[in-house]
Amino acid sequence: MAKDVIIACDFDGAEKTLAFLDQFKGKKPFVKIGMELFYSAGPDIVRELKKRGHKVFLDLKLHDIPNTVKKSMAVLSGLGADICNLHAAGTVAMMKAALEGLTRPDGTRPLLIAVTQLTSTDEESMKRDLLIDKPMAEVVKHYAMNAKLAGLDGVVCSPLEADGVHKACGKDFLTVTPGVRFADGDKGDQKRVMTPAEARKAGSDYIVVGRPITAAADPVAAYERCLKEFLED
Ligand code: C5P
Repeated sequence: MAKDVIIACDFDGAEKTLAFLDQFKGKKPFVKIGMELFYSAGPDIVRELKKRGHKVFLDLKLHDIPNTVKKSMAVLSGLGADICNLHAAGTVAMMKAALEGLTRPDGTRPLLIAVTQLTSTDEESMKRDLLIDKPMAEVVKHYAMNAKLAGLDGVVCSPLEADGVHKACGKDFLTVTPGVRFADGDKGDQKRVMTPAEARKAGSDYIVVGRPITAAADPVAAYERCLKEFLED
């Protein structure tokens, strides 16, 4: 399976996003569209980026009753996204319904991955707010196994959890990991970070990188550096 760097295009509109990507000239990086960009630019931004030749991870983290998620996934699948996601907390039934919705009439579908526990949630808040008193590693592993049971392709998790997820769900079960920083870079609000090379060693299949690329003085050079560190030994 192809490992890759996905750029988190956390911009508040289509114009800024397209101007940012125009800097990459002939290159077509894999991009992530999150809620901010999707809610401001609408579904057209997905169509436009697909038309321009990018692969698109649509990071909208659905979580609702199975029927609503199924129908919404059918809409997202029709936009041509390559990866969609949802919250594993929505249950196995919701994840199965999502897969049904995603499957296009010709049998193809985007990859579907599940958010286990958000990296902004720690054990203390999980216990206090969610009444989950198991260790984080166990919860993440259990949610990943539920996602696998439902037929999903992988999970979004911290690179620190990638190895445990692969051990529980197999090496072909995808781990898509944000929280990546260069060794000499600014951490921003991310707390538990790894460098691209560390993420590779930890077994991440895709790293999601935002500000280290989008806020760099030379975003193209930062992207190339990320690719090199993540893909090369
Ligand atoms: O700028 P930065 O590299 O921190 O961007 C990381 C991206 O990954 C953001 O779009 C953020 O919303 C997303 N993300 C994350 N942690 C998660 C899930 C998604 O940082 N657990």
